[in-house]
Amino acid sequence: MSETKTALVSGANKGIGYEIAAGLGALGYRVGVGARDGVRRETAVAKLRAGGVDAFGVPLDVTGGQSVADAADLVERRAGRLDVLVNNAGISGETGPGWGQDPTTLDLDVVRTVVETNVIGVIRLTNAMLPLLRRSPSPRVVNVSSSVASLTRQADPDIEVGPVMAAYAPSKSFLNAVTVQYARQLAGTGVLVNAACPGLVATDFTGFQGPRTPEQGAATAIRLATLPDGGPSGGFFEDAGVIPW
Ligand SMILES: NC(=O)c1ccc[n+]([C@@H]2O[C@H](COP(=O)([O-])OP(=O)(O)OC[C@H]3O[C@@H](n4cnc5c(N)ncnc54)[C@H](OP(=O)(O)O)[C@@H]3O)[C@@H](O)[C@H]2O)c1
Repeated sequence: MSETKTALVSGANKGIGYEIAAGLGALGYRVGVGARDGVRRETAVAKLRAGGVDAFGVPLDVTGGQSVADAADLVERRAGRLDVLVNNAGISGETGPGWGQDPTTLDLDVVRTVVETNVIGVIRLTNAMLPLLRRSPSPRVVNVSSSVASLTRQADPDIEVGPVMAAYAPSKSFLNAVTVQYARQLAGTGVLVNAACPGLVATDFTGFQGPRTPEQGAATAIRLATLPDGGPSGGFFEDAGVIPW
């Protein structure tokens, strides 16, 4: 079995996903850059390679069954197995003033679109990659969530959690719940499955507002992607440690 470990990062053409790819590449991983736009994907791959990362492009739209199946075929041809899957691709969905999503007037199609990408896309991609992950001696799955998924924090009026986001925040709570179910199902198999919050990061997603850099936002996901055997599974983490559900 090859010594080089292979990682796949969804939505790796920019933002936090790009920096997760760069960080894993710097640790010696061969990195599949999962991205749906060909030009953005190949630009990111070229930039990573210029920085010394063993990167390859993986055409990937997490909302498409055929796209995800093709991505699994490509990773199998390139690497024969997968050691790390980072489900990073995510969207906020359409927002109103101040990035809000008012539950009382919410367009149901916004909810459907957000859940399709942030939750169903993760299940689709994870299940397509699991046969390849099971060939790894130390498989890791990281789901990029958000602290706004924390019902404990959302329900505490003394904690600042930003605007009401009735599609995005629950989609990440749903993702967390799914993460726990995967961890339970895969307990004892060696596959560790965890959720990571990057903090508030200046990317396209936030209109480049936020105190953290994409590199800082990538740190927890990279840590969870490189957990030692016997590490935690079914947890929800940020830089400071465990986030309450
Ligand atoms: N930024 C923050 O403060 C923050 C905070 C908490 C959590 N997060 C989470 O962190 C993750 C990355 O966010 P970011 O800030 O780096 O945002 P970003 O710069 O907007 O990047 C999002 C990435 O996801 C990709 N993507 C979206 N839909 C996709 C689909 N259907 N198939 C494949 N790729 C898709 C985008 O591709 P395109 O370029 O093709 O659109 C892009 O590469 C998201 O899951 C987000 O929810 C971000």
